[in-house]
Amino acid sequence: TNTYYQEKYRPHVHFTPESMWMNDPNGLVYFEEEYHLFYQYHPDGKTWGPMHWGHAVSRDLLTWRHLPLALFPDEIGMIFSGSVVVDWNNTSGFFKDGEPGLVAIFTHATGDLQRQSVAYSKDNGRTWEKYVHNPVIDNDNITDFRDPKVFWHEDSSQWIMVLTIGRRVRFYASNNLIDWFTLSDFGENWGAQDGVWECPDLFMLTNEDTEEKKWVLQIGVDDGAYAGGSGTQYFVGNFDGTVFTPDQNPSDVRWIDVGKDFYAAQSFSDMPDDRRIIIAWMSNWTYAEDIPTDPWRSAMTLPRELKLCTIDGCETVVQQPVSELTQLRSVTHDIGRVAVSRERPFRMRQPNAPFEIEFDIEHINGKLECHFFKTGKESFIFSIDNEKSTIERKHFFTDDFSDSFYSLTSAPLPYGTPLRLRAVCDHSSVEWFINDGTQTSTHLFFPTDTTEYNISFQVQSGDVNIKDLSIYELQSVWS
Ligand code: FRU
Repeated sequence: TNTYYQEKYRPHVHFTPESMWMNDPNGLVYFEEEYHLFYQYHPDGKTWGPMHWGHAVSRDLLTWRHLPLALFPDEIGMIFSGSVVVDWNNTSGFFKDGEPGLVAIFTHATGDLQRQSVAYSKDNGRTWEKYVHNPVIDNDNITDFRDPKVFWHEDSSQWIMVLTIGRRVRFYASNNLIDWFTLSDFGENWGAQDGVWECPDLFMLTNEDTEEKKWVLQIGVDDGAYAGGSGTQYFVGNFDGTVFTPDQNPSDVRWIDVGKDFYAAQSFSDMPDDRRIIIAWMSNWTYAEDIPTDPWRSAMTLPRELKLCTIDGCETVVQQPVSELTQLRSVTHDIGRVAVSRERPFRMRQPNAPFEIEFDIEHINGKLECHFFKTGKESFIFSIDNEKSTIERKHFFTDDFSDSFYSLTSAPLPYGTPLRLRAVCDHSSVEWFINDGTQTSTHLFFPTDTTEYNISFQVQSGDVNIKDLSIYELQSVWS
């Protein structure tokens, strides 16, 4: 076992670098029995700095093996975010026919100049060669011009790239991953416009209710997101190989996750099955560089499987942790029914995080407070308020390293009874999946005392009936 993974706040079911600064997930791809996770990495500091691509591999999306750094800054610039694809048919000419390899498409950044470049690997991502004629897309005076996400588009038989430029995206096409042609732009005055757009992704999902094939355009907005700071919005529509046409209105803003800590999400390329799986950076630019962890900073979210459903007439991205997570369940506490009133709170002393908690709210009159880690004056509270029709997240911790981190966040209560709740709680984060993942809410927290992990349900007035309450302790992926 790795003793350094006993540090305070170290996640046990979420990916973290051993040490130093990490941000966006990059180059998520499946190839030859391995899932690859590359990531924005600063090897010489615990804050953002000259960006490299870190690298890890996994066979189950949860247990990751750290590998040496994949891409280093060079005379063209630092290595910003981007994607990796499998070039099955050697369209690039980097490989030998019949021996497919990996191609990385990323942003080279120096000063304010951002251009797109490629690199390739013939040994399953272990070593990389940069293309000699980089950059492959030059910059014509555009300030924010980055984060290429590439995929093979079957219907038009070509590679498609989606890139963010300012507060919109641009689509490009290529036959060889080297020569790129502009197709169209989308986004001028669409969706959330308070921040610069970053880290775009475009993928198809079949609507489970209508059976229609739809395209989801997922985009990071670096400021002014739902819970403040950076967050991830999406559009649902159609993509014909040239133009993206949304089904929603320009003013209709939809968020993948309504919590504070879900940014720069990217989906896996070349999956072995037809799942669409995303991982996001579990932090927020507003305070990411100040969080009290050591010797590393930042974690990734759990990998989540996406589906598309029509909920109350609205095409909605629905999320669940990947099914592999259930393999980590060790001890199960089947508690069943619980009636909570002011006189009768429910308390359970949880020996250790990580754990998963699942329950249905059958009846609610008032406001149910779910406390995690209530010790002394500190608490992390998630409340379901039936009168205000909201779900709120509140912190009471003594180490207030950032005001925006502690500020309250509130989201509308999703419709439907019973309300189904599921949360995955690690040493310094919780991811809520509400009503089978129709709403998700992801948050970091840093209690002073991490020796006790308690769960309690309380109400100030009124009463709440809970059923099917189960708590699953989870095995650490590092042991
Ligand atoms: C998003 C981002 C990207 C950029 C990278 C730099 O978090 O700002 O747009 O490529 O981080 O590290």
